[in-house]
Amino acid sequence: MFSQRTSWRRDPNRLARALEARNERGAEVLDLTESNPTRCGLAPSPDRVLRALSNRQALEYHPDPRGAKAARVSISAYYAERGAEVSPEDIFLTTSTSEAYAYLFRLLADPGDEILVPQPSYPLFDFLAGLNDCATLPYPLVYDGRWQADLGAFEVRMMPHAKAAVVVHPNNPTGSFLQPSELARLAERCAAGDCALIADEVFSDYAFESTQPALRTLTGASSALTFTLSGLSKICALPQMKLGWIVASGPEAERNEAVARLEVIADTYLSVSAAVSGALPEWLELRRDVQPRIRARVRANLASLDLALAASPAVTRLSAQGGWYAILKLPAIRSDEDWAVGLLERQGVYVHPGHFFEMPWESHLVVSLLPEEGTFREAIRRLFGEVRRAMSEDSSLHGE
Ligand SMILES: Cc1ncc(COP(=O)(O)O)c(C=O)c1O
Repeated sequence: MFSQRTSWRRDPNRLARALEARNERGAEVLDLTESNPTRCGLAPSPDRVLRALSNRQALEYHPDPRGAKAARVSISAYYAERGAEVSPEDIFLTTSTSEAYAYLFRLLADPGDEILVPQPSYPLFDFLAGLNDCATLPYPLVYDGRWQADLGAFEVRMMPHAKAAVVVHPNNPTGSFLQPSELARLAERCAAGDCALIADEVFSDYAFESTQPALRTLTGASSALTFTLSGLSKICALPQMKLGWIVASGPEAERNEAVARLEVIADTYLSVSAAVSGALPEWLELRRDVQPRIRARVRANLASLDLALAASPAVTRLSAQGGWYAILKLPAIRSDEDWAVGLLERQGVYVHPGHFFEMPWESHLVVSLLPEEGTFREAIRRLFGEVRRAMSEDSSLHGE
């Protein structure tokens, strides 16, 4: 009765079962997977959020496939602050970046076509591609003290017939920004292979350091047809408002054709409400208040993590430049799942194992840097306690 594309495995994994059991007992959980800013005390001012919704545009319906013009103009102004000139005519509003991905996969790929995605990265890509009848082809990000795309693998996988290549700038969870030279090479290969670039920039305002990354946005000129995605969930810490967008850029003829086709896709759904698009210009301004608070939280948590790491050489943090996550490499005496389940069951600390983000290596864990500072510090203290416990158990097992 049901489509093949929805025949997912839905039984909970070991970690999900352990979490469920703990929640049923009402036992404490220090959640280091939490990256929803509305649950970490980082939401923008409630009054200002709600005030923006009471505007008269919410009462009228002027369908526009791209979304309300005033909203798109405010997005152009956002990019202008990043040194990029973006015409409101090249912007399409969507209800999330997930919907933006769906529009683009529909635009670019036929059933069975392949989409290149970074590995490790955002776990939703397989679902987003699968729901649009595409397959994902991972291209590895390699780490040797800093992350970069394996360009050889990228080219080999792209060559036959990939229709689009996704880059996440900075990537989730590695926190790595693309370098300008890396982008130039990726774009050159995409342009030569009739493959579009999709740049997910939802975390691009969250560099760890106060100096900006060399490449602020991919909305500028590129040799490949490029679609840049972002939205309110990270820029303004308003995931509940469900607003994202696509910016089309790149060679003019291809961009014009893409925009004309996207217009038909977007016109078919007209999915963004008048209330939300009417509030967008005011909501976007809230980033000036919320982003410094989020950056301060992330830096404070990174600092307490690094302090704990300095005293525990058995654990290392992989280098990152931005985003909301840190990757920890634990001793290879347990799998990442065993570490995560052990941490939850013995210490009440919930973390994501690296394989959740398609990390091919064992014993890596991903922690969110958004939780409240006291909770984060205590969870990290317990994590290091668990590592010490496991290492001494392991050495007594091996008779050391
Ligand atoms: C890389 C990346 N893109 C997109 C999103 C989600 O964006 P949206 O809420 O607009 O769908 C996330 C959420 O964590 C993400 O990590």
